[in-house]
Amino acid sequence: MITRSLLRAAHAAVALALASAAAVAGAQAGSAAPFANANPDAGKALHDKDCIVCHAQRFDGNPSKMYLRPDHRVRTPAQLRTQVAFCNTQLGTHYFPDDEENVAAYLNREYYKFKP
Ligand code: HEC
Repeated sequence: MITRSLLRAAHAAVALALASAAAVAGAQAGSAAPFANANPDAGKALHDKDCIVCHAQRFDGNPSKMYLRPDHRVRTPAQLRTQVAFCNTQLGTHYFPDDEENVAAYLNREYYKFKP
């Protein structure tokens, strides 16, 4: 069991890693649409089960605000993948890589809307 403050610190650490991930995203831009081979509906099921409660607690019961707040962190598809993978590791949810991709695809479809 991890504490919430530990997770917060972990998420903050991801932000540092995200800067370098952005360079990778730039290199990949122009290929296929992000998450084109994933299943966002399967991702939604995982996300709703594992991810919403904690985010909702932080934003008066509205978990969407985590992704839509003006200063939100995730700015590229690569950052989204990194963040989802990191949460999975921290939370011990034991997603397979396909699961992570599906959750990222769901978040992209609903919130981030990154284009190819
Ligand atoms: C125990 C609480 C907790 C759980 C459970 C949790 N998160 Fe988070 N998540 C956070 C916090 C806190 C932040 C904000 C970090 C910050 O702004 O420094 C965050 C931020 C994020 C962001 C970045 C949003 C943005 O653009 O700024 C993503 C994406 C994310 N979480 C995905 C997930 C996914 C996917 C799961 C489920 C596998 C999950 N989280 C489960 C606490 C949690």
